[in-house]
Amino acid sequence: MQRDAMNIAALQDALSGRWNRIEVVPETGSTNADLLADANAPDRSVRFAEHQSAGRGRLDRSWESPTGAGLMFSVLLRPTVPLNNWGWLPLLTGVALREAVAAIPSSGADVHLKWPNDLLLGPEEKKLAGILAQSADGRVVIGIGLNVSTTAEELAGLPDATSLAIAGIDADRTQLAIAILTRLDALLAQWEDGRTDPASYRAACSTLGRTVTVTGADGVELRGVAKDFDVDGHLLLEVDGTVLTIAAGDVRHVRPI
Ligand code: BTN
Repeated sequence: MQRDAMNIAALQDALSGRWNRIEVVPETGSTNADLLADANAPDRSVRFAEHQSAGRGRLDRSWESPTGAGLMFSVLLRPTVPLNNWGWLPLLTGVALREAVAAIPSSGADVHLKWPNDLLLGPEEKKLAGILAQSADGRVVIGIGLNVSTTAEELAGLPDATSLAIAGIDADRTQLAIAILTRLDALLAQWEDGRTDPASYRAACSTLGRTVTVTGADGVELRGVAKDFDVDGHLLLEVDGTVLTIAAGDVRHVRPI
């Protein structure tokens, strides 16, 4: 299938001034790994790949996408905000991603976040995009993978995944990336000023109020009701009358029968 390459000139025109270094590479292992390994990468670096041979997902999963089918990119930040507030960064990235997808002209995309930051599409709640944040030595790298023109055949074997194309939404990857990074820039400015509004995340996240199961890294599964998020963006899960604070885990929305 013929797919347009990312337009680096258009990205740089639209984003320079907000993002300091913008690159597009045809092929790499993982854009997250690249930026983490680059000790000299400036604050607000952005690296896109047309293809990744070792794309990483949350909870030790992989992220795979055919060449040019999706957006795969990472941003590197060197925040001056105290470390204990960094938990908001992947959540705000999810908010930016959701707003940008919802704003695709005439798409009417029904998208929302599943805590912490999976982007789900439509009433079937299939996964359209995921976010992986990794930090090291005063830097944080936030990677985004979004299925754009991926076909159903290409997603065979991933029954819970979808793409914009499968939903009948035609999107230009370059314009979508510009929209995501413009929104993320605005949310980061608020965050740096201590003006993050948790309400924007609450409004974007359909996990709140739902019965969910949460599977931790140890494989232990908890079932409860998602009551709220704390100031660090952690999930407050009520299990048998006790509210537990969940920092990380794999959430499944339990559907009413
Ligand atoms: C998830 O849902 O598990 C997170 C997926 C994150 C994938 C993106 S693709 C660009 C960046 N580079 C990686 O290796 N991973 C992230």
